[in-house]
Amino acid sequence: MMPNPQTPLVDSLGRIHTSVRLSVTDRCNIRCFYCMPETDIPFAPRERILTFEEIHRLARLLIQQCGIRDLRITGGEPLVRRQLNRLVSMLHEIDGLEDLSLTTNGILLVDQARDLRQAGLKRINISLDTLDETVFRQITRREGVERTIAGIDAAIACGFDSVKLNALAIRGITENEVVRLVAFALERSVMLRFIEFMPLDADRAWEKQSVLTGDELLGILRNHFGKIEAATRPDPSQPAEEFLIEGGKVGIIRSVTQPFCSACNRIRITADGAVRNCLFARGETPLRELMRSGATDDELLLEIRNCMLSKAPAHGIDREGFVAPERAMYAIGG
Ligand code: 5AD
Ligand code: SF4
Repeated sequence: MMPNPQTPLVDSLGRIHTSVRLSVTDRCNIRCFYCMPETDIPFAPRERILTFEEIHRLARLLIQQCGIRDLRITGGEPLVRRQLNRLVSMLHEIDGLEDLSLTTNGILLVDQARDLRQAGLKRINISLDTLDETVFRQITRREGVERTIAGIDAAIACGFDSVKLNALAIRGITENEVVRLVAFALERSVMLRFIEFMPLDADRAWEKQSVLTGDELLGILRNHFGKIEAATRPDPSQPAEEFLIEGGKVGIIRSVTQPFCSACNRIRITADGAVRNCLFARGETPLRELMRSGATDDELLLEIRNCMLSKAPAHGIDREGFVAPERAMYAIGG
C-alpha cells in the first residue's frame, strides 16, 4: 500500500502541531491539591480507558499521517497503569517517532525506571515541588518525599537522554522551597523548571493571588544566587525560559503571566480517548466510541483535524469571563 502523504495538523491561526501528550490513566497514587480533589474522585471506569492497542493506533495515525514527531506519556500518574513498559515499547517501534518522553511524580520510578529505559523511553520529567515531608504532605495529602527522591536518583542512574524536574510555584506554600530545590537539582546536574500554578485544580480554589509568578521567583533566586542572566531560548515552542545562575541553569515556565500559546505545538489525548486542542479547551472530540464501532483511519483523522481547527488563540486566564475547563488536570493529562 502506498503511504498517505503527511498533512500537518494545523489550526486556523496556522500553528503546526508536532507534539502529542497521551494520558494513559486518570488515576494517581497521591492527591496534589492543584490537580485532584482529596476524596470522591470520579475516575473513569476501566472500560472507558483506551487500551494500549487503541492508544497505539492513534499514535501511529498522528505520527505517520499528521507529522507528529514527539510523544509524551502523562496521567494522572502514568506509572500506576499496569505494564506501562509494554506500551512504551509499542510506541517506540512506530516509524517516524523522534522523541518519546514521560511525566511522572516519581514515586514508582525506583521499580520501573530501568524497564522503561530499556523499552525505549528517551526522556523523563519528574514532579518535585518540595524536599520537605510536611510541605509534601500539605500539597499531596500523602507521604512520599523520600520515595520521590529515590525515584529521581534511579532515573538519573539509568542514563535517560534527559531527566528534568518540575516544581509548581504556589504562593504561601513553595517560596521557601525555591532555593533548596535549585541546589538539589544543581547537585545532580539536572534541569529544574518552576511552573506557575494554573487554574486546573479540581477544587476550583485557584485564584490569581495563589500564583507565585516568574518575576517573584527570579527575585527569590537573585536574593540568594546574585546575578541571573537569561539564556537564549533555542526552541520557541519550549515553554521554559532558562536562566544562568552560579553552578548551572534553572528554568521558569510562566504559563500564567507570560503565556506561550502563540507558539503552542501540542495536542492532547485523554485517557478515555478524547482529543483536546488545549489544556483549557472548553470542548473536546471523543474518539473512543468511534474507534470501537469500526471507524476507519480517515474518519478518525477527520475528527482530529476538525478538533484542531477550532483551537482558541490563547487560554485567556487573564480575561474577564475566563472559565476553567470542566476537566481538572488529572483528567486531562499534565
Ligand atoms: N498548574 C500547573 N501545573 C500543574 N500540574 C498539575 N496541575 C497543575 C496546575 N494546576 C503539573 C504538575 C506536574 C505535571 C503532571 O502537571 O506540576 O509536573
Ligand atoms: Fe497525581 Fe500528578 Fe495530579 Fe499530583 S499532579 S495528583 S502526582 S496526577
